[in-house]
Amino acid sequence: HRHFTVLALESSADDTCAAVVTSSGNILSNIVLKQNDVHAPFGGIHPYRAVQAHQRNMPIAVQRALKDARISVLDVDGIAFTRGPGMTGCLGIGSSAAKTLAAALNKPLVGVHHMQAHALTPILTSAPNPPKFPFLTLLISGGHTLLLLAISVTQFRILATTPDESIGRVFDKVSRLLALPWSAKGPGASLEDFVAASPVEDNLAPSMPRTMPGVLTFSFTGLHSAVERFVTARGGVEALDIPTRRAVASGFQRAAFNQLEEKLTLALSWCRDRGLGVKHLVVSGGVASNSYLRERLRAFVLDLECSQDSVSLIFPPAELCTDNAVMIAWASMHRFVARDTDDYAIMIRPKWCV
Ligand code: KG4
Ligand code: ZN
Repeated sequence: HRHFTVLALESSADDTCAAVVTSSGNILSNIVLKQNDVHAPFGGIHPYRAVQAHQRNMPIAVQRALKDARISVLDVDGIAFTRGPGMTGCLGIGSSAAKTLAAALNKPLVGVHHMQAHALTPILTSAPNPPKFPFLTLLISGGHTLLLLAISVTQFRILATTPDESIGRVFDKVSRLLALPWSAKGPGASLEDFVAASPVEDNLAPSMPRTMPGVLTFSFTGLHSAVERFVTARGGVEALDIPTRRAVASGFQRAAFNQLEEKLTLALSWCRDRGLGVKHLVVSGGVASNSYLRERLRAFVLDLECSQDSVSLIFPPAELCTDNAVMIAWASMHRFVARDTDDYAIMIRPKWCV
């Protein structure tokens, strides 16, 4: 029998994405149109500029996704889109496009939860040995700082998130604060490279605060402030020599990853107390491409090997960890297959909880 083919659209933040994926897990296309240049001067996502860029880019993304997949829109069996959570105006562009396509083609429609889509990605990318439910996902990027428990394809629970800025944005800010060398991979990656480039003289760095010990909440703002205070007290970044800048960057990076490990330990014992039998830890998002973090987490998991909390570690491929429409298509699949689809009048949910 023929596979079910989904065309999916994603526009919840600053990437305009379209993809074609089949029910057998075949990724026929994956288009991501970034807006980095649009938002760079603002130090964050400028909401209206994001909407404008989505308006320009969505038709292009859809056209390219179909072209790369070498199919006609008439071969598409269903349309999926990101229903939320996300920025209202941005979600609206993908949602309107998807609803209109579905209605015009008379095809079924599914609105997807963005976080659930991130959480389900490893089932697609780790085939034929996918993580088994329930599993933990640590999602660390410019958009998210989340520890999520995936219980089934439809059940999720957020174990920890942050009321402050995302870990990725804090890496970006500390990197700029220390005026680190520019890298095409972005300020977060250039911080990692700068620390790794030479031995670190730890005694030159300020001490970093431990944030909310014992609580399942992330916060990286305290680390950012500690760096900012240190730089200001020394008379600005120009007054800091390179070994000092390196020690500060290293101290920040280590403290940030200490916090991730601390919260992971708490989450694992939370799961153990409830007898959940979690066997997999998925780590994804832009920050997960940090090699030092990967090394730390491998050691962390090795330490757990003989304990009750023993888990195996999964790092999905980077291009499917960041926002994309492949994950939206994949997360919609079980609903299309079950014929559990949405009305064309479905509304977006910018503040959709799990
Ligand atoms: O998932 P992602 O590519 O997209 C967004 O969510 O925007 O994450 C980007 C974030 C940026 O903040 C970037 O600085 C951070 O991930 N990042 C890193 C590294 N590579 C990217 N942070 C630390 N170390 C890295 N090697
Ligand atoms: Zn995302």
